[in-house]
Amino acid sequence: MSNDYEVMISSEEIMQGIRELGKTLSDYYLGKQIVLIPLLKGGFMFAADLIRSMDVQMQIEFLGAASYGEQTKSSGEVRLTLDTTLPLSGRDVLLVEDIVDTGLTLAYIQRLIKSRDPASLHTVVLLDKKIRRKVEVEVDRVVFNIPDRFVFGYGLDSPGGFGRNLSDIVAKKE
Ligand code: PRP
Repeated sequence: MSNDYEVMISSEEIMQGIRELGKTLSDYYLGKQIVLIPLLKGGFMFAADLIRSMDVQMQIEFLGAASYGEQTKSSGEVRLTLDTTLPLSGRDVLLVEDIVDTGLTLAYIQRLIKSRDPASLHTVVLLDKKIRRKVEVEVDRVVFNIPDRFVFGYGLDSPGGFGRNLSDIVAKKE
């Protein structure tokens, strides 16, 4: 990592937050079978750690979404890049996302899932940049609220698509 960046949330803090969320979700879904959906690409690392912190019977499906636009800002134009293969109708669906910013990606994906008539839809996000919200979205659990700074690492990319492999969430120094 270059000197222009600093650790905003360390790997240890992330893992502690995820373990707590995993326990909460294990209680919430006690006795149920769920379909857990990481939203790609960004949500893959959070989901990989979260599922190992949960004691719930689950099937895992994937959805992919991307927004066109400048490299550090969402354009608001969301497109689906990968769709699920199992039917979601009548199922308890848990959507796992890395970050909610304007809310446009989540709003689009939640609308898509709800159109398939699941029994329930619960959304968990690792990071919430609430100040940037453009549309109202239902987020059931947030692990960290963060300020309006450009962040990457732990699944989130920096311009050019690099940095997703870092274990910490890092931010550009101010
Ligand atoms: C990022 C991130 C969220 C979305 C949040 O995805 O993973 O899905 O932006 O922004 P929003 O709330 O303003 O819509 P991106 O489109 O960069 O795709 P990626 O997950 O493949 O990195």
